[in-house]
Amino acid sequence: MKLEKKIFSARRKELMGTLGEGAILVLPSAAEKVRNADCEYPFRQSSDFWYLTGFGEPEAVLVLVPGREEGEAVLFNRRRDRDREIWNGRRAGQEGAVNTFGFDQAFPIEELDQLLPELLNGRERLFYTPGQDKAFDEQMWGWLARLRNAERRGKTAPDSIEDRDSLIHARRQIKSVEEIALMREAGTISTRAHIRAMTECRPRVMEYQLEAAILHEFAMSGARHPAYSTIVGGGENGCILHYTENDCELKDGDLVLIDAGCELDHYAADITRTFPVNGHFSPEQKALYELVLMAQEAAFAEIAPGKPWDGFHKAAVAVLVEGLIKLGLLKGERDQLIEDEAYSPFYMHGTGHWLGMDVHDVGIHKQQGQPVLFTPGMVLTVEPGLYIAPDNTEVEERWRGIGIRIEDNVLVTDDGCENLTAAAPKTVADIEALMA
Ligand code: GLY
Ligand code: MN
Ligand code: MN
Repeated sequence: MKLEKKIFSARRKELMGTLGEGAILVLPSAAEKVRNADCEYPFRQSSDFWYLTGFGEPEAVLVLVPGREEGEAVLFNRRRDRDREIWNGRRAGQEGAVNTFGFDQAFPIEELDQLLPELLNGRERLFYTPGQDKAFDEQMWGWLARLRNAERRGKTAPDSIEDRDSLIHARRQIKSVEEIALMREAGTISTRAHIRAMTECRPRVMEYQLEAAILHEFAMSGARHPAYSTIVGGGENGCILHYTENDCELKDGDLVLIDAGCELDHYAADITRTFPVNGHFSPEQKALYELVLMAQEAAFAEIAPGKPWDGFHKAAVAVLVEGLIKLGLLKGERDQLIEDEAYSPFYMHGTGHWLGMDVHDVGIHKQQGQPVLFTPGMVLTVEPGLYIAPDNTEVEERWRGIGIRIEDNVLVTDDGCENLTAAAPKTVADIEALMA
């Protein structure tokens, strides 16, 4: 499943309409990163760059120049090179950039230093966000200085630099029909992977072996990469929020927390399920688990168009605190405990985040000082949890070392929300039945 090339050209066109004539936008690709010696990490294109290009190679720069006669959408990219392609893989080259990717013009990346000042010349507003790539910033300041120094010879540099990223991120925050279809599929594949992990889990299996089961299912379903490092935490490892060592043996009587989602054509899923290693919840595990599940249900009810973005977190916290009082884990009056954040030793993270091309996706949270309102097409995670630290001597021993999170991916619809990952089992009954 992939987005069609014409979607990327349409995005560029729409964005150029907003920039207006006289503007220029410059956006470099991601760079390759060394892992060790001469080995690199798997290359992942920058999400903003992919959003506007669908072009997956490093060493590329997108330049949008609305109204420019010779071409408005310009790509600088690597030249074809027979030798380099035999060693390191195929390149689109300039011809491919135009014919396959729909750019108006393409130039070899080596010509950037000579040609970019010419493209900047005479443009009034530059859309560029500094602070992400020091070397590229230096180059940009150099080009601007070169132009200013040439003003006597009739050149002019842009007189304002405006934020590029907020324009792109506002677009990325509202998902199109095609993006929603991709995210739905990423959710389905990831759901299948969680089911596989539940089915294969037994005492004495290693955490990384469940990770392998998850990655296997991703790949066999058409998603080669995870969207982030898979978390498989047995027992008290489930209390470490971003645990990725995954190198312990799973023990009879413990829970295991798995936070895993695939990336499908640059779109992420982000699901967490927590289940008993031996297939049966103990009374303490069940009590805390059902409390987290109730908190998630309360959170879903606060997600609908027009509702403020921060309401679902507040709803989840209220349920968790009330439940913790009932179980004797917190003492006091509910509203006061909430105000004092007395729950923070057990619940120290937010209840969700935007989801999209990045797992912690771009998008605003406030508008004119107020929480942003949910709008159809937004996608977010809903992921309440409870984590009873193994060394928390304030609580009875039977609760210690239990870590639970339940995380689903939710689309804001016209009249409420839709859970895109509801097919991953999560009631106590469903999980115990699947694992029996
Ligand atoms: N997987 C990271 C998170 O849930 O935010
Ligand atoms: Mn998440
Ligand atoms: Mn997650």
